[in-house]
Amino acid sequence: RAEIDSHTKHLKVSHLRLSDAGDYTCRWDGSPTVTISLHVIELTISSEGHCLPDESLVLTLNSSLSLPDLKITLFNSHGDTVRPELSPHKSHRSYIMELKELKARDSGTWKCHVHSASPFINQNISFDVKVLGFQTPAFKREYATVDGTITLSWHLNFQQITWRKAFTGHLNWKQTQSASTQELLGFKVTEQGEKHETIKSSHFQLELPESKTQSAIEVKLPRIHVNYSGHYQCQLAYNGRYVQSTIELLVMEASANPVGPLLRGTEMILTCQVLSSLPPNAYLRWERVNGTVKDIKESKQHEGKVEVTISAAGLWNCHLIEGNDIKISLKYLVEEAPTWMSYVVTGASIAGSVLLFGLACLCIIHGVRWQRRRQRAKRMAQARQHLLENKTCQCEQ
Ligand SMILES: *[C@@H]1O[C@H](CO)[C@@H](O)[C@H](O)[C@H]1NC(C)=O
Ligand SMILES: *[C@@H]1O[C@H](CO)[C@@H](O)[C@H](O)[C@H]1NC(C)=O
Repeated sequence: RAEIDSHTKHLKVSHLRLSDAGDYTCRWDGSPTVTISLHVIELTISSEGHCLPDESLVLTLNSSLSLPDLKITLFNSHGDTVRPELSPHKSHRSYIMELKELKARDSGTWKCHVHSASPFINQNISFDVKVLGFQTPAFKREYATVDGTITLSWHLNFQQITWRKAFTGHLNWKQTQSASTQELLGFKVTEQGEKHETIKSSHFQLELPESKTQSAIEVKLPRIHVNYSGHYQCQLAYNGRYVQSTIELLVMEASANPVGPLLRGTEMILTCQVLSSLPPNAYLRWERVNGTVKDIKESKQHEGKVEVTISAAGLWNCHLIEGNDIKISLKYLVEEAPTWMSYVVTGASIAGSVLLFGLACLCIIHGVRWQRRRQRAKRMAQARQHLLENKTCQCEQ
């Protein structure tokens, strides 16, 4: 690692180690002997500066000689001064500093400034901190409608911070009305930063979108079912620890009872609902497109269901409102039944009444006949009795 430039008589030692410290003496024919003392300071960082959010890294400063009045200042990746917890060794040859609760935004090149009066040292030593994490928040909500399509994505920072270690991860789904968790996707990223994904669930409608961002985990739900609401948890694992980011999917559904076109003179109930529990400041609202104030029906705050009874056809719109923002809307068209259908229904009910009336008449006629037959039979029996008792009788027929 050492080379001497014969013209300048310079000695160059590269990749210095602590063991390179010591006295270097130069003897040259005809010139006085010169001795130079070399002190070496070494800064090391635990886990090669790689960690997950909220973890700590340990910096160790080792010196080839005792430095009793050493001043250490740290500058983070944004150039701000950081006061680390310093624990100097009794020998003053080793200083240990802990960088606590690191965040993804702390990733970057840090500087350790060391200063000593005797021997005089004034040096900045650079080192890299890489905190692997999500660029998406730890929790967010997404909204979708039944039969719609949505792409859920989690952006990772491994390309941005040039992370150089392999890591794995997976995507889990926790359904709203069930405690069970299902693995939807597994992925791994190699040391070279190549991502490989595998779909794990066979009965969940899930696709990997074609135009994919290399640094994001993305899944497309092509035909959303109302049961797809729930928590989608993306987890990264490194070094036996993990970090996760969750998307809660709220699925909105609208339905009518009875289904089908609205018959003139009848009523219909339109229901709009979200199976998950709503955030505390959210509610649902039905309103008629171009309607009046009377055509608005709202759920209570936090209540995931609203019903409206309607008696006229038209276009209705259900909104999910959080605070003052409309998060998602779903249109429902109520068509008026064609006139012939109303006639058919009215006709059928008239026909029904006629049939009932007919049946009633038949019963009455039958009943009267049966009554008469019974009376006749009774009289015949009486006549027979009188004959047996040798009496005569005039039967009235
Ligand atoms: C060390 O870095 C700090 C922060 O960037 C800077 O203010 C200071 O001048 C540097 N000192 C040396 C000796 O390079
Ligand atoms: C609502 O009103 C607008 C503007 O008058 C009109 O263009 C639109 O067709 C109406 N929509 C319905 C469903 O009545």
